[in-house]
Amino acid sequence: MSNPPLSANSTILGIESSCDDTSAAVMINGKIASNITASQDVHRKYGGVVPELASRAHQSHIIPVINAALEKAQIRLKEVDAIAVTQGPGLMGSLVVGLNTAKGLSLSLNKPLIGVNHLHAHIAALHIENSVKFPMLALLVSGGHTQLIWVTETGNYEIIGQTIDDAVGEAFDKGAKIMGMGYPGGPEIAKWASQGDPLFHKFPDSQTENLEFSFSGIKTSLLYYLKKSLKEDPEFLEKNRAHICAAYQHSLIEMLLKRVKKALKIYPTASIGLVGGVSANTMLRNSFVRLAHQKNLESYIPSFEYCTDNAAMIAQAGLFLAEQQKFLNLDELPYTRA
Ligand code: KG4
Ligand code: ZN
Repeated sequence: MSNPPLSANSTILGIESSCDDTSAAVMINGKIASNITASQDVHRKYGGVVPELASRAHQSHIIPVINAALEKAQIRLKEVDAIAVTQGPGLMGSLVVGLNTAKGLSLSLNKPLIGVNHLHAHIAALHIENSVKFPMLALLVSGGHTQLIWVTETGNYEIIGQTIDDAVGEAFDKGAKIMGMGYPGGPEIAKWASQGDPLFHKFPDSQTENLEFSFSGIKTSLLYYLKKSLKEDPEFLEKNRAHICAAYQHSLIEMLLKRVKKALKIYPTASIGLVGGVSANTMLRNSFVRLAHQKNLESYIPSFEYCTDNAAMIAQAGLFLAEQQKFLNLDELPYTRA
C-alpha cells in the first residue's frame, strides 16, 4: 500500500496493549481528543501480571475501548487517517491482540499502520502537554524499565544509563509483596508513605558503574530488615507500615535522583522529563521538580493519565513517525518487538 503523506493535522487512532492496560486514544490536529483505558483487575489476586490472562482480557476489552475512544472524540472510524499501535517491548500475547486489531483496521479502512516503540511513546507523552526544550534528559521509570535517555531532538534517543537488574517499578511491586500488600505495589506503597517518616530507616544504595541503576539489592535489604525487626517485635510491620513505606520510597527516589544529578554533570541539558508508570508517584514528582528548580532547568512530567500505560502517548509517538513517513509494511513479519 502506498501511503499518502500525513501532516500534523491528521487524525490518528492510537492503540496500546503491551502489558495489562488496554487503551485507545484519538489525536486530532495534534491534540488528544480522547484517551480511554481499561485496566485489568484479574491480576490482583496473583500479585503480578499473568500473561495468558492479560491477553484474554485484551481480547474482550479492545473493541469496546476503541469504540469508546471514537465516541468520546466524536468521530467515526472512517475519519481516521492512520492507526498507531504498540509494537513492543511488551508481553507477546498482549502485543499481538493490539497489533492484529490495528492490522485489521488498517486493511479494512485502507489506512496506514504505524508501529510504535512503547518506551519512545512514554517519552513522547511529554509532548502532549508541553513544548519541549532540547536537549532534554529523560528519566524513564516503569514496571519493566529504568533508563536515563538523552534526547537531542524528537525521535533522537540515546540511552545513557539503565538498570542492570530490576526496574524501579519492580522494586515498588516486590517491596509491596514482601510487606503483604496488593498489586500493583507502587500506588499502595505511595498511599502508606504519605503518612510516614521518610527518615525512619535508610535502605542502602547499590554501588554501580557510570550511570547504571540497580534495584535488586534494596528489596533484599527490606526483606532482611523486616525479618530482623519482626523477630524482636512480631507487630513491628503493623505498627510501622507507614514509616517503612515512606523510608523505602524515599530511598528509591534518592537512588533515582542521584543518577540524574550525575548525568546532568556530563550531558548539557535544557530540560528534564520524567516518564513511565512510576512517574505517577507524588513524592518523586515533587523531588524532580525541586531538582529542576535548583539546576535552573525546565521540567516536564505528564498528567497522571499519561504516566501509566495509555494510548494517547502511542498516538503522539505515531504522529512523529507519520511525519517522517515511517509506516509498517503489512506484509512484513513479525510485527512485534518484544
Ligand atoms: O509504565 P507502566 O504503567 O507499565 C509498564 O510499562 O511497566 O508502569 C507500571 C509500574 C508498576 O510497577 C507500578 O507499581 C508503578 O508503575 N506505579 C507506581 C505508582 N503508580 C504506578 N510506582 C510508584 N508510585 C506510584 N504512584
Ligand atoms: Zn509502560
